[in-house]
Amino acid sequence: MALFIAGNTPRTPHREIAEALKDPGFGRWFTDDMARADWSPEQGWHGFVLAPTGAIPMHPGLAALHYGQEIFEGLKAYRHPDSSVWLFRPGMNAARFARSATRMAMPPLPEEVFIDSVVELVAHNLAWVPEPTGGASMYLRPFMFGSETLIGVRAANAYTYIVLGMPVMPFYPDPLRLWITPNYSRSMAGGTGEAKCGGNYATALIAENQAHDMGCQQVLWLDSATRSLVEEGGTMNFFAVTADGELLTPALNGQILAGVTRDSLLALAPHHDLTPVERELTLDELLDGIASGRITETFACGTAAVISPVVGLRSPDVEITVGDGTPGATTRALREHLTGIQFGTRDDIFHWMHRVG
Ligand SMILES: Cc1ncc(COP(=O)(O)O)c(C=O)c1O
Repeated sequence: MALFIAGNTPRTPHREIAEALKDPGFGRWFTDDMARADWSPEQGWHGFVLAPTGAIPMHPGLAALHYGQEIFEGLKAYRHPDSSVWLFRPGMNAARFARSATRMAMPPLPEEVFIDSVVELVAHNLAWVPEPTGGASMYLRPFMFGSETLIGVRAANAYTYIVLGMPVMPFYPDPLRLWITPNYSRSMAGGTGEAKCGGNYATALIAENQAHDMGCQQVLWLDSATRSLVEEGGTMNFFAVTADGELLTPALNGQILAGVTRDSLLALAPHHDLTPVERELTLDELLDGIASGRITETFACGTAAVISPVVGLRSPDVEITVGDGTPGATTRALREHLTGIQFGTRDDIFHWMHRVG
C-alpha cells in the first residue's frame, strides 16, 4: 500500500505541460507534486505526503544552512514506446541514500519508503514524463536535510525528506574535455567522497570554474594523498576502453561515488566482448595509454550525463586528445545498449526496470 498519498494539488493544464515538454532543459520545470516526509526522535519518519511543489517555510537557523547536513540522489523515469513509464534501478539509489545518511549522521530513510516516494510521485505526475525524443526523461531528485533550528555543532534532531520531479534532457552536450586540476581535491581517505552530500559538490565548484576557463566541461579528479590516481569526474564516473578489450574503471576506494550507471556498464561489458576491470588507474598509465594507443577510448557516465565520450584531457602540463578526438565505437555501443534498456527498446536482461505507470 502506498505511503505517499496525493492531496489536492492543482494540476497544470495538459496544453501547458505539452508546451514545457517541447524544450524541458534541466530543472526548468517541476512536476505539480513533490513528495515529503519528516523525521523527529519521537515519531521517526512520519507525515508522508504528496504536496504542491513550492516554497517551504524555514527558519534562518536551519541546521543544514549552517553545518551542511544535506544529502541527495538522482534517478530517472523513462517513457517506453507503448507509453508505459519505468524507473531505472531505484533500489540502488535507495541503498546509496541510506549509506549517505549514515555517513552524515542522519537517520537513514528505509529503502522501501524511498522507492514508494519516487514511484508515487511519478505515478501522480505521468503527464510530465516526456516522450523520449532526444533522450528526454523525468529526473527525480530525492534529498534530505537537517531541518532543526540549530546554532551549535551537533547532528540535528529533525530532518526533512523531499523528492522533486522534473522533465529533463541529457545534461552534457557531447563530447567532453576534462580538466585535471593541479590544486584542488574533491575527497580524501576518511572523508565524504562516497557519500552523495551537497558539500562534495560545493568543494568541487571552484575547480569546475577553472575547467571552464581552460576550455573544458568538467574536472577529472585525482586522489588527494598522492595526486597520481584517477578517481572520477565531478558528476560522473570515469572509464577507459583498452585495445585488448578491457573496460577499465577506478576501483571504489571510499572516495569515489558508487555510480548506478558505472555498476550497470560493468554488468553490460561482457555483452560487448569487454572484460570489466576495477582497479587503481594511475594518471601516468592513462596518459601513456592514450599516447601509445593502448587506451583507445575514454568516457564518463552518470544518471544526468548518461554516457559522455571524453575526447580530451588537459592539465597545466599536458594536453592530449583521445583516439582521433571523436566518440569511439565502444562508447557509442554501450550508450546505445544502456539507453535502449532504459527507454524500453532493448531487452531488459538484468530486470533493472521498475514499472510505475
Ligand atoms: C560525483 C559523482 N560521481 C558519479 C556519479 C554517477 O552516479 P550515477 O550513475 O549513480 O548517477 C554522480 C552522479 O550522481 C556523481 O555526482
